[in-house]
Order: sequence, then structure tokens, then C-alpha cells
Amino acid sequence: MTRLSRRRLLQAGAALGVAGVAPQTSTEVAAQTAQSPALDEFVQELPIPSVKEPDGQREGADAYEFQQTEFTHSFHPDLPDTTVWGFDGSYPGPMIEAEEGEPIHVRVDNSGLPSDHLLTVDERIDGTTSENHPNTDGPVPEVRTVTHFHGLEVAPENDGQSEMWTSPDGVEGPKFVNEWQELPMEQGRTTSTYHDHTLGITRLNAYAGLFGLYKITSDEEESLDLPSGEYDVPLVLQDKSFNSDGSLSYPEEYVPQFLGDTAVVNGAAWPYLDVEPRRYRFRIVNAANHRSFDLGLRNDSGSGVPTMYQFAPGHGFLESVVSIGSGGDLDSLLLTAFERAEVVVDFSDYAGQTLTLTNSAEMGPELTDLVQFRVSDPDQAPSDPSAEPTSLSLPSPTSYDEDDVRTTREMTLGVTVEDGLITHTLNGFTYGEEGSTVYPRLGTTEIWELVNESGGRHPIHLHLVTFRVIGRGPDGTEPPDPNERGPKDTVRVDPGETVRIIAEFSGYTGRFPWHCHMLEHEDNKMMIAFHVEGGPLQSYANEDGVIGSEGLTDAIADWRTSDLETEDLLEVIDYWRSGDEVAE
Ligand code: C2O
Ligand code: CU
Repeated sequence: MTRLSRRRLLQAGAALGVAGVAPQTSTEVAAQTAQSPALDEFVQELPIPSVKEPDGQREGADAYEFQQTEFTHSFHPDLPDTTVWGFDGSYPGPMIEAEEGEPIHVRVDNSGLPSDHLLTVDERIDGTTSENHPNTDGPVPEVRTVTHFHGLEVAPENDGQSEMWTSPDGVEGPKFVNEWQELPMEQGRTTSTYHDHTLGITRLNAYAGLFGLYKITSDEEESLDLPSGEYDVPLVLQDKSFNSDGSLSYPEEYVPQFLGDTAVVNGAAWPYLDVEPRRYRFRIVNAANHRSFDLGLRNDSGSGVPTMYQFAPGHGFLESVVSIGSGGDLDSLLLTAFERAEVVVDFSDYAGQTLTLTNSAEMGPELTDLVQFRVSDPDQAPSDPSAEPTSLSLPSPTSYDEDDVRTTREMTLGVTVEDGLITHTLNGFTYGEEGSTVYPRLGTTEIWELVNESGGRHPIHLHLVTFRVIGRGPDGTEPPDPNERGPKDTVRVDPGETVRIIAEFSGYTGRFPWHCHMLEHEDNKMMIAFHVEGGPLQSYANEDGVIGSEGLTDAIADWRTSDLETEDLLEVIDYWRSGDEVAE
């Protein structure tokens, strides 16, 4: 049996639920049985996303202008061309290379998109029609987009939030603020994605192709001597399904979980990469709508596999380099949706051999093979100026003092059925519900305990902040995984588990979402907000911006429970007396 037919067989098994994934609804069964045309693996080269050059300057910052359009893309030489949506006509979109502390401005023009969606919009999902859009009375066009730079510390108006959409013919969503997103790039280094974030149709827009990569480089990073140039390779992992005419296959009716049957890396189905017997840096990004990947290496022509040395968990650096592979710190590298990992792999002992990046996560149709590495066998070993991964001295990540924690919040992840749809909840709330917002104070540190009572896994993502994972396991007291001991913006929370994270809410005040990053869950309202308050005064001011008797009563109550310092209470009293307006 060839590998291909074995995979198809396993896929059929998964569709019947025998691979341990019990379908939750009948539409989900349909989603998993949709079978893509059989495609040979490793017949095309891995494409590398192009780098986007600035289009000019704006207020002293590099300005980037993107065009969103519909176009055709070849995922595989044996598959008819696929109509997709994308940034600047490429799938994934071109990569932005920014530097820490160098602001960039971005404008996305979606007027080139059609007015009908490429995929079927399920109007049972809130946000998709004028009737069920929580904050608009105006028209809700079928095609709407808004672009979010995932993992950035930015002001809310530059954050590409879900109701800041526009339509190709110029209708503006209820929270639309500015055309240009001004991104200060003040935070540390990262490898991340920009992607669509539109209320109710993020899963469709992203699946259609509205995503790309960006990175922020820091001086510290440059001094590490990591493999660079052509030896620094992004691997953007996705699962897709195709119809026999090559078109994208995605369920017409909402499914709480979509899992494709074809592995796509950097926009190519099952590609290969010719590598030299030397060290490579891989920026691994899970950009699947829903799927987790549990990564390892397999040697297809010899024995043994190189260790993957992970040095970064998405942002910044890990406390220390983590070895992944048998006998390493971790057996495999698990990434849930929109988590990233940066690794160094040394192919120098594998000249002439073929290795495959594999996925062992059991989730829907089995996708074992992702991308193949063909190691060349030159007469002379290539020179390799990059540092040995085991001797990298990583800049230590920010640590937090648990004594500085002002508030600890328990946040439960739950599940319910609403209007016949499986709907996941955060603290019992869904998108936009009154009472769902929490109010961290600017500059303070909080611990959030993510308690997963939903029976399924969720990658939880907070905008604005990067956090540290401080505990996981049944009661949140087990140590974080070795490769999550560093700054992150998205964290895996497994069923029955409590994951404790700590973050400083600094940089900007205002309202930011936090949500599950499985796009199917996010689209069906598994997204609520935190609102960073400017200071003690603002939190007690009323709509008119003054502190009234209610504000004063709240302040006194908070002071009694020690949530408010005496000094701050006195300031609140002063404002209450004077009736002065509290500054923003
Ligand atoms: Cu990657 Cu709120 O998003
Ligand atoms: Cu979820």
C-alpha cells in the first residue's frame, strides 16, 4: 500500500468516527466526509512568500498598501487552479519585515473584492445580516473585511477588530475608525500573521485566503547568529479541502469544527524543500482555521532524525532552548491554531537523505505528512556561520512578579447550544453580551485562570498583551510546557485543564477582544472583551466623565476589599467633591 492510499483509508475511518474523533453534529460529519481529489505528495517545491516593500512614507513611517482581490492560485500541479481571495494577489499574502521600534502604517483596500462571498455565508451566525448584527442598524453587506495584525501592542483603533470592517463598495462597520492602521512596533520581536477578523465570517475570509505573515526583528535577535537569508524559512501550515474542480471546499452550514484533508504549506499542497546539509531556521506558523499540529520529523531514507531546537514561542525568546524529538525535552512540537514556534534544525549529518515534517495530532482526517526536506550531498560540506543551537544565549524574557498581581480572574471556557448551534462561551458569555467585559487597569498585572469546562480544546488569544504561562494541568499548578516558557499571545487550553497566565496590561487603554482562535468558535461568538482603564479615576467616572455618588460608592467598596489604594480613593473623593471631569 502506498502512503497515499493509506492516508485515504484513514480519512474514511475518521469520517466514520473510528479514529477517535466523534462528530458532534450531522453537518460536521458532512464536513469530514468531503473528500479532496487524491494528490501525490512532494511533487512541487515549497514556495517562499515574497517580501512586501513599503509603498512610501507616511508621517515618517514606512507605509504599506495592500490590495485584496479574488484570483486563482495553484495549490498543486495536478489540481485545477483554485479561486481564492488574498492580499496583493498572493496566497499567503506577502510578508512584512518590520523592525522593533520602527513604526509602520498599513492600509488595506478591499474594493477589488466581489460583492458576493466566495464561500457560503451561514446567516444564522450573528454579525452576518442587518437583523443579527449586534451593533448596526445599517446594511450588512455579504462581503466585509478587516485586517488584524495578530500579536501586536496597538491602540484599539489600529487593532483591526471585528466590527471595524468595511465592504468593497465602502459601507463601514459600526466600529470602523480609520483607514490607516498605525502600528508602532514598540513591542519585542515576533513572527506572526496578519489575518481577517470580520465578525461572523472570519473563518470564511481566512479560509478564502485573507492572511499573510509579518515579522518584527530585534537587535538582540540579530546578534544571535541564527541561520538567515535563504536558510531562514517560514512554514505556514494549513489544512484545506478541495472539490474535484479545484475549488475550495468548506461546509455551507456552520460547523463548530472544520478539518481539511489536504496539507498545505505556504500555499502548496505537500511540497518539498531542497536543503543543504547545514543549519536552518524555520518559522513554523499554524494558520489553520481549527486544526492543531503535533510536529515531528521522520527519516524516509536512512535512520535517525535531527533534533528540532526551539528558541522562540511566537514572541521574544524562550528561557532556554528546548530540544524536540526522541530523548529531547519534548517528544513533539504541538501547535494549536495561530500558535507559532521558531526552531533551528541541523541537517549536516543527513546529507543525501530525505526527511519529512510529520503531524501526529489526532483530529479529523489524518494528515500525517506536511513537507519533505531533501538534503543535498555536496562534495564539500557547506560553510555555516550560524550559531550552534545548543549554545545560543537567549536574552531572558520579561518575568513577572506574582506579588505585583492586582487581580486574579477566573475565566471559564464552556459550551452550550444556542439556536440549534453548538456555541462556546467565555465566563458563560458570548460576543457582545452585557456584563461580559472585564476592566484591567492600565499598567497593572493580572493573572487569568482559564478553566476549561467545555470538553474540547481551545487556543485562547488575548489582543494587546503578551503573557507568560505560569501553570497548567487539572488545577493549574503543573509547570508550563518547556516550550511555552516565554512570551506568548495564544495558549492551548485542553479539556478539563486550568491554564494560568500572567500579563501586564500596558501600552494602551480601551477595549480589546480576547477569544478562542479556532476560527469556527470565534465566529460563533466565543469572543468577549477586556477594557483597559486609564486609571482609578476613569474606572469610577460616569457617562458624563464625572465621578458621581455611584462611582464613589464603588470606589469605597473596592477600597474595602483592597482593590483600591487609599491614595487613589482620596483622589476619587476629590473629584467627587469638585465635580471636575476626569481626563481620558
Ligand atoms: Cu489572530 Cu483576534 O486574532
Ligand atoms: Cu474554541
